[in-house]
Parts: sequence; C-alpha cells; structure tokens
Amino acid sequence: MERFFACGASNVSSDITFTDYPTAADTAKRGRLQIIAVANQKGGVGKTTTAINLATGLSATGKQVCVLDLDPQGNASTGLGINKQSRIVTSYDVLMGQASAKGAMVATQIPGLTVIPASVDLSGSEIELVDAEKREYMLRDVLRGKLDDIDYVLIDCPPGLGLLSLNALVAADSVLVPLQCEFLALEGLSHLLKTIERIKHALNPELTLMGIVLTMFDQRNILSKSVASDVRAYFGDQVYDTIIPRNVRVSEAPSHGLPVLLYDHRSTGAQAYIHLAREILNRERGSVSRQEQKTMKALG
Ligand SMILES: Nc1ncnc2c1ncn2[C@@H]1O[C@H](COP(=O)(O)OP(=O)(O)OP(=O)(O)O)[C@@H](O)[C@H]1O
Ligand SMILES: [Mg+2]
Repeated sequence: MERFFACGASNVSSDITFTDYPTAADTAKRGRLQIIAVANQKGGVGKTTTAINLATGLSATGKQVCVLDLDPQGNASTGLGINKQSRIVTSYDVLMGQASAKGAMVATQIPGLTVIPASVDLSGSEIELVDAEKREYMLRDVLRGKLDDIDYVLIDCPPGLGLLSLNALVAADSVLVPLQCEFLALEGLSHLLKTIERIKHALNPELTLMGIVLTMFDQRNILSKSVASDVRAYFGDQVYDTIIPRNVRVSEAPSHGLPVLLYDHRSTGAQAYIHLAREILNRERGSVSRQEQKTMKALG
C-alpha cells in the first residue's frame, strides 16, 4: 500500500510555484469582491458540498455570498433548495451575456446567501462557445466589476477541465481545491495544479491557489491518513488545517435542499465546514496583517 503512495507522490511536479495568499495590496486592488473557483477535474471529490457549505459558513459571519452553479448537473442549485421550476434565469444566460449576474441571483433560505442556478442548457455551452471570440473570458467579463456589494462568489465547477472550468478559472481571483483522501489523489492534483499554472501564465496572471481542503476523511482508514500526510508534506501550509470528515449527515443534507449547517449543525461535517470558513477568514486577516507589518517595517 505504501508503495502506491510513494508512486503517486513522486509524480507531483516540484516546479509548481504559487504566490502566497492574497496580500492586502491584492485585496485593495480588486476591491471587496473575491471570486473563488471551487475546482478539481476529478468527479465526486466534494466540490459542490464544499461550495454550498463554505458559502453558508461565510454568510453566517455576515458576508454577502453567491454560489454560481457552473455545472450542468445543477447539484449546487438543488443542494441549496432551488427546484428546477424556479431556475428561470440561469448561469447559462449569464455566461452567454444574455442576463446580468445580479439579475440571475435567487435568494436561498440562508440570509446573505444567493445562488445563480444552473440548467441543463449549460451542457451545450461548451460547443456553443467554441467559435466565440474571447470564449475563455465570457464569465470574467460578466462578473468582474459588476458585483460591488458581494463579498464572495463561489463558482461550483463541473468535473473535467473543459471550457466551463476554464471560464471559471479565468474569472476567478483564486482556486479552492477540494481533495478527496483516496488512492492516487496526488496524481490528479499534480495535473490540476499544472493546468492552473498554465492558465495563470496565459490567461489570468492574478490567479492564486487559495488552498487545498482535504475532504471525506475517514479516521479509521489508513489510506485516508497516508494521503493527508503526503499532501501536507508536499504542499505545506497551502493545505488547510481543517479536514472535512466523511459524515453521513453531509450526504443526506442535499436531498432536503439544505446545507448540512442547517440540516444538522451539530454534525461533525457541519462543524468542520464552520471551522473551514473561520480558518479562511483568519488566513485572510493574517495575510493582511503580515502585509501591514511589512509595510510598517519598510516605512522604518
Ligand atoms: N464529507 C462528506 N461526507 C459524506 N459524504 C460526502 C461528503 N462530501 C461529499 N459527500 C458526498 O459525496 C458525493 C460527491 O460529493 P460532491 O457532489 O460534493 O462532489 P463533486 O466534486 O461536486 O462531484 P461532481 O464532480 O460530480 O460535481 C455526494 O453524494 C456528496 O453528498
Ligand atoms: Mg459537483
């Protein structure tokens, strides 16, 4: 078993470099809104679950948050209680420039949290966009500078690295990568990080890796523990301290149209997402104060 880990880990490119967490200067430059792509080309690793529950955790702290469902499966919309009949203006319309992001936002049961729902129309958009001019910038153009009263837009990306995910990564300030603690997790991560690095160089120089969050961690499973320690060994503090455990309440919540934080806020899964939201906010504050300290030092 250990040989497999060593094998997966050795494939991780050591030349991947990212800028540190966003600094105060970055934050000031881009204003209040932060666009975060929740991405991993691998299916079923917890992207949607993380987008929904982190968004809920951030709204609970008083932030204005929007989940942009960019997956034709529409799981984030369903998980936030938006039934198919209510998805009138959707992320497809926004992406195609046929509706404004503001106009597509639907309120959820959580104060401060809206969703731009997805419809199956999105599945055709990859083909429709192929001939579009600036096809990688479609989402960026309709989001940037247009949502001044929102703190965070969390884009729930589909699996794969097609044109939809590419649009999300070009529109985003940063990428949050949910990583399931399972066999060969590191190989998939290596591929994703190389893609992010390429996008950063070619299409979106401001893109940063926000962090990696370990999901569906099973305390009793030796594989889970080994993956977690391998990922930490390679990526250090780019991996959040908070680990999301595998928890049945997390998987039940979407069928009730609720984030687990509302479905069962005492569950280990809900508590972990509250921790993650707190850790993300603390890191942001930390990076701001680190920058302030540097500025103070420079000023003598
Ligand atoms: N911490 C957890 N504990 C238990 N089940 C979980 C947990 N996180 C996610 N799941 C379940 O695992 C499945 C996949 O999760 P999710 O839909 O969030 O992944 P995804 O990466 O968005 O998938 P896709 O690539 O298909 O969009 C879902 O059924 C979800 O309810
Ligand atoms: Mg999903």
